[in-house]
Amino acid sequence: MTKLWGGRFTKPTNQLVEEYTSSIHFDQKLALQDIQGSIAHVEMLGACDILDNIEVTRIKEGLRSIEEKVKNGDVTFSVEHEDIHMNIEKLLIEEIGSVGGKLHTGRSRNDQVATDMHLYLREKTYALIELVEGVQRSLVDQAEEHVKTILPGYTHLQRAQPVSFGHHLLAYFWMFERDKERLRDSLKRINWCPLGAAALAGTPYPIDRKMTADALGFDHPYPNSLDAVSDRDFILEFLSISSIMITHISRLSEELILWGSQEFQFVELDDAFCTGSSIMPQKKNPDVPELLRGKTGRIYGHLMGLLTLLKGLPLAYNKDMQEDKEGMFDTVDTLEGALSLLAPMLASMEVKAGQMKSAVTEDYSNATDIADYLAVKGLPFREAHEVIGKIVLYSIQKEKYLLDLSLEEYKEFSPLFEADIFEKLNPNQVVAARNSEGGTGFAQVEKQIQLAKEHLS
Ligand code: ARG
Repeated sequence: MTKLWGGRFTKPTNQLVEEYTSSIHFDQKLALQDIQGSIAHVEMLGACDILDNIEVTRIKEGLRSIEEKVKNGDVTFSVEHEDIHMNIEKLLIEEIGSVGGKLHTGRSRNDQVATDMHLYLREKTYALIELVEGVQRSLVDQAEEHVKTILPGYTHLQRAQPVSFGHHLLAYFWMFERDKERLRDSLKRINWCPLGAAALAGTPYPIDRKMTADALGFDHPYPNSLDAVSDRDFILEFLSISSIMITHISRLSEELILWGSQEFQFVELDDAFCTGSSIMPQKKNPDVPELLRGKTGRIYGHLMGLLTLLKGLPLAYNKDMQEDKEGMFDTVDTLEGALSLLAPMLASMEVKAGQMKSAVTEDYSNATDIADYLAVKGLPFREAHEVIGKIVLYSIQKEKYLLDLSLEEYKEFSPLFEADIFEKLNPNQVVAARNSEGGTGFAQVEKQIQLAKEHLS
């Protein structure tokens, strides 16, 4: 086997070196992007009279034919040709003869690989935006059903104040909305085109970088050739966005796991999304949200891996950079899997409104409202807080909830209490009263749903 770069060498490559340095087993994922980039490049070489029309036509036909074979799974890539770029070039030369060797005029694998990754990540960014929207749709649908379903809201995982379940779900809608915004914004930088930077310094050929950038749908060429071949910020950014997104997925998963437990019994995941235990027949395990929560580690790991890889690399290309790909591919696959499961799992989950309601009536989460009641009647809030603290303590000692006390008992603590206190303490009233902008009041939640839908259209 002759290497494409074999001229300078007198000995064959050590077998272990060949295997160790090769990236074909993972970068073959970039085959179609590589061909797409090559077609844009060769058309530009023709337009700039660097290659003649016959050469350009033959090279393009050869590339199209390889593209077909790749799509049909009819090519075998080999470790001898190290990576996807040289494998395809070798296939091209086999296909159309030595004229195939003209394709690499005025470029290098360094600008080529960077271009391939920009193309790949752009495609995947659009696909992920779609998948995030799928999850958001499930959240809005469930929220619409459950505006008036009330459950305890928590701080410190202690029951705090009752909230609408729709409101709770919509909190996640907005997290995913920001993820989507970050993905969209990252396209601005993904759309810089490295092609034509060549190995590091540009090329003596009279190439037209704007033409290839346009042909590939990029906004503009990188203005600096050294930066073009060594920049991996766009991947770092993707991994950062992904880390934030998987954090959101993990937090939501954690809540689903808690809510599905015997202790909460707020939701039940559909059988189709749960698994059983091989020893305990009664069990229905939330494996999917547990795995979603667990996937966080690998994505954070890929982010840390790439940050560490790039730190201290001198300009421009270094072979270290070949290590940028597997983490990126794995992150894309992990997120695609997670989002594809999350959407139908949320849509099919059963919400146990009755359980949630009884949780709310069996707690002290309406205590703030009694304090507000006294404050409205003129008692400074801080003093009201003190009074209610005593009432709560008294109730706990008497094994009662706040709605179970009599008016006489209330009056023992403050003469300001009247019979209307009981209406104020009703959980529905407690939720409805929080009608400040973005609050959990039902009217606000309805408004929020409208706003969420506008963001989806
Ligand atoms: N497989 C290489 C990578 O992914 C392509 C670029 C190789 N460039 C070089 N000068 N060896 O990084």
